[in-house]
Amino acid sequence: MAKKFQTLKGFYDVLPERQRLWRYFEEKALYILDQYHYQEIGLPLVEPTGLFVESVGTHTDIVEKEMYSWEDHLNKDKLTLRPEGTAGCVRAVIENSVTYNGPVKLFYRGAMFRHENVQKGRQRQFHQLGVEAFGFKNAESDAEQILLLSRLWNALGLKNITLELNSIGDPDDRVTYREKLIAYFEENKGILDEDALRRLYDNPLRILDSKNKEMQSMLNAAPKLINFLSNDAKKHFDELCSILKKYNLVFKINTRLVRGLDYYNRTVFEWVSSDLGSQGTIAGGGRYDYLVERVGGKSTVACGFAIGIERIILLLEDLNKENNNILPDIYIVNLGEMAKPFAFSIAEKLRNEGLKVSLNMEGSSFKSQMKKADKSGAKIALIIGEEEAETKIIQVKLIRDNGIQNSIAEKNLLQYIKEKINFEK
Ligand code: HAM
Repeated sequence: MAKKFQTLKGFYDVLPERQRLWRYFEEKALYILDQYHYQEIGLPLVEPTGLFVESVGTHTDIVEKEMYSWEDHLNKDKLTLRPEGTAGCVRAVIENSVTYNGPVKLFYRGAMFRHENVQKGRQRQFHQLGVEAFGFKNAESDAEQILLLSRLWNALGLKNITLELNSIGDPDDRVTYREKLIAYFEENKGILDEDALRRLYDNPLRILDSKNKEMQSMLNAAPKLINFLSNDAKKHFDELCSILKKYNLVFKINTRLVRGLDYYNRTVFEWVSSDLGSQGTIAGGGRYDYLVERVGGKSTVACGFAIGIERIILLLEDLNKENNNILPDIYIVNLGEMAKPFAFSIAEKLRNEGLKVSLNMEGSSFKSQMKKADKSGAKIALIIGEEEAETKIIQVKLIRDNGIQNSIAEKNLLQYIKEKINFEK
């Protein structure tokens, strides 16, 4: 027996039923991105490893233990499958002088790869829709991105999601804070778990993100970065909050929110669903005014976010969302030597008119084909046997209209179908 192969752990096939929900998500998201005039950019899946080390940061989970990296044996290049999209987008903006004529708003979508422990909502290959705005320094830009997301959740009908917001200031603000925080953690060393001890001097801010129950009250009492902000950073954050309030957006300031990537400054935010268990963050982002310069570009302020598409799909499945837009309009049942080419030609003619037509090509019994027509989600079934092929009068069944059936001459067919489909809408 030949060996059978299976998907790797944390890698998944998306079967057509679920893929339909992806289309539903993408249709809504793309429409809203167009409304805000974000333009799509296509980016490679593989980038030089150094790009991620420099951007995401050496002392982060992603760089320390989650990247799929290897050395190309042909030329010794060190390569990595992208674990996130911001770094590649920044590289592309610099390399192609995308901001040459002024600020730009970009988005991208596609697979990302992280070697993580797999659980519900956490995969090794997952997909993001990411948004990045370059060259906008005011809080309006952060606010616009958050409002865009809120508009998207509404369009998708998502419930039970909350916005958590924080400001982590600028690098200078963090120097004093970092010292205070390390001193505080040293006083509480006995309570720190292994992970926290490991991060104590490399990335103490990340300790604030810990979910360890035993550490929560100590972490809640830790010094708060928001109290160490410069006047400019504070003003920026106040402006952001006041715009969000003006547009009735409810948010929670979470002073412990720091995010798992090192490039952020000032605004950081996450949208969290309470329906997904521990992996409830459906989108996260913030400002990264220093990253473009850090990876070799001209100093350019920026902010962005990424949505975890699989997590959104899980929520849409729980809501029993259906995407009927992409189901066929017409299903053609046909049987017989003359019927076959006649049905084929009708299918092509209807497609010429812009209709979505599924033509049965199995030659099974009428009964079994009718079952498939019902299941296909089509609104109308055309039934074509030898008699219909000869007389050019077709049986038309309105599947969604109590299965009413009429005989329609081929020359009147298109008109009849259009009336019925519009009538249904
Ligand atoms: P992130 O928080 O690492 O940010 O990822 C964004 C979203 O991707 C998460 O909120 C989550 O929904 C989804 N996600 C992350 N890891 C996984 C996984 N293993 N399985 C399933 N979904 C996952 C970023 O990647 C930043 N680049 C976002 C950004 C853009 N910041 C500024 N611009």
